[in-house]
Amino acid sequence: MATNYDEIAEEYQRAKQQPWRLHLEHFTLFKLLGDLQGKSVLDLACGEGFYSRFLKRRGAARVVGVDISEGMIELARREEAKTTLGIDYRVHDVRTLALDETFDVVVAAYLLNYAQTGKELLTICTAITRHLKPGCRFVTVNNNPRQSEEYFPTTRAYGFIKRAEGPVREGTPVDYVFYLDEESFAITNYHLSVATHEQALKAAGFRQISWHDPELSPEVVGDAERQYWSAFLAHPPVVFLDCVK
Ligand SMILES: C[S@@+](CC[C@H](N)C(=O)[O-])C[C@H]1O[C@@H](n2cnc3c(N)ncnc32)[C@H](O)[C@@H]1O
Repeated sequence: MATNYDEIAEEYQRAKQQPWRLHLEHFTLFKLLGDLQGKSVLDLACGEGFYSRFLKRRGAARVVGVDISEGMIELARREEAKTTLGIDYRVHDVRTLALDETFDVVVAAYLLNYAQTGKELLTICTAITRHLKPGCRFVTVNNNPRQSEEYFPTTRAYGFIKRAEGPVREGTPVDYVFYLDEESFAITNYHLSVATHEQALKAAGFRQISWHDPELSPEVVGDAERQYWSAFLAHPPVVFLDCVK
């Protein structure tokens, strides 16, 4: 069943504080994004605005955040009320989104992994190209379809694991179980192969597609600290995509 983020919005916000988010996820995403100065950015599936705020602080001129969950957007707006950054948050299903504007960059952290079929993935990818200027880039991080399920438990030390019932095939639900101080909660993604992603992205109008494994921030120094992240990097649970329209 699809995850209802209204019910877990606050737990999810806390799970974004786990160190791997900063040292690997945030570092790699912004390395791929490069210079954002003066650009207009659409942050799809923005959740509680975790990346929307970083995008604005990195110099984007305009940031629009869109999410289907009212609970997540409420948290995002609460943060905006505390510290005004000028981010425009909207509640909408990306699949039917038709804003009256195109953007220099589209970001969508953990959106593609909600598609359960190649057809659903194409609908999402088409919504992305619909809002992107020609020649501009879509950058995203998602569940890594190349990680074999035998490595799903290996990220427990970093605060989460992935789990699936039976062999992972097209459309198989893959749960992410996050461990916070005294509780845990799960969200459900769906496995679709690399080939299905490439097909949908190309059909939606992307002419260049590159896959990137997470990279460790150079701010992590010291042999022991870098060694600590080696299991994550050896079989990455998440993967990044950089696509040009
Ligand atoms: C794992 S969270 C990621 C949130 C944010 N991008 C981040 O990295 O913190 C996934 C988000 O996707 C949103 N989502 C899932 N399907 C969506 C859709 N069809 N349209 C808009 N948002 C969607 C969920 O409500 C949830 O907030």
